[in-house]
Amino acid sequence: MKKNFKNAVRNGLSKANKTLPSKYFYDAIGDKIFVKIMHMPEYYLTRAEQEIFKNKVDEIVTYLKINKENPFEIIELGAGDGTKTKLLLKELTSNNFNFKYVPIDISNDALINLKNSLSKKFNSLIVETKQGDYFEVLDDLNKNNIKKIILFLGSNIGNMSDENATLFLQKLSSKMHKNDIVLLGTDVIKNKNIVLPAYSDAAGITKRFNLNLLTRINNELGANFNIDNFDHLATYTENEGIARSFLVSKIKQSVNIKGLEKTFEFEKGEKIHTENSRKYNDEILESVLKNSGLQISEKLMDSKKYFADYILTKK
Ligand code: AVI
Repeated sequence: MKKNFKNAVRNGLSKANKTLPSKYFYDAIGDKIFVKIMHMPEYYLTRAEQEIFKNKVDEIVTYLKINKENPFEIIELGAGDGTKTKLLLKELTSNNFNFKYVPIDISNDALINLKNSLSKKFNSLIVETKQGDYFEVLDDLNKNNIKKIILFLGSNIGNMSDENATLFLQKLSSKMHKNDIVLLGTDVIKNKNIVLPAYSDAAGITKRFNLNLLTRINNELGANFNIDNFDHLATYTENEGIARSFLVSKIKQSVNIKGLEKTFEFEKGEKIHTENSRKYNDEILESVLKNSGLQISEKLMDSKKYFADYILTKK
């Protein structure tokens, strides 16, 4: 992990247009800030998807094509704090379905917290956590013949480039058996006035989330970033449906990263691109699914049509 982080920072900051990968937001501090983001008034995504899980859980259960006789596994990629999933787990446990819940997350802290809160809420639920990168954990997916329901919620797919999302869904599909199902949560392309504040909130929580990446480099790689010398910037282009986050150098400055034995120069106003948050519509999803062997079977939306959960099945 540390080696990957080191290489990612070296490569990203050595480019003409500097970048840092968003997956490194999620250390113990980043996880806590992200929970705050999910509760921000501007961050509509979590509430919209939660509404779908609250009001349409019966429909979701029907679409999963499960029955009480046959066991199945619910595998959640990027489980986080599992708020939405708990609504589904509640429905399934109270109806005595026979299943195991396997949350997978890059953050071990998030998994420990999730397992603790689940054991309090559902004492009979079997939970098997797995820590790792989504791409890597997919390798284990087809090791048995038990039906799999793969949850990829919260617009997590939006943080992948279209190219990576395509590769990821192809790989996911190649590991799925005929009756396995994907439940994919995507943010929907909509007006800038709604999307942009979600990534540049008034209280500055997203700014802290973004700047934490520099604190993490300071702590883990012995860098001397002065975070007061960087600002947060979010942009959104409605025609393509992509929100982008940047860290912007407020002054001309040099930053030394001991762990890399390297000094990086930043011009005043120079940007580090830290995240893409892609918004979807049916057409974009269909193009990402092309050649994956997966198809859209159903689509569930919240009352404002801000968010969509798709049921994907094998063709
Ligand atoms: C985790 N992911 C879906 C979030 C998003 O909306 O792209 C991460 C995030 N970045 C800034 N705010 C939230």
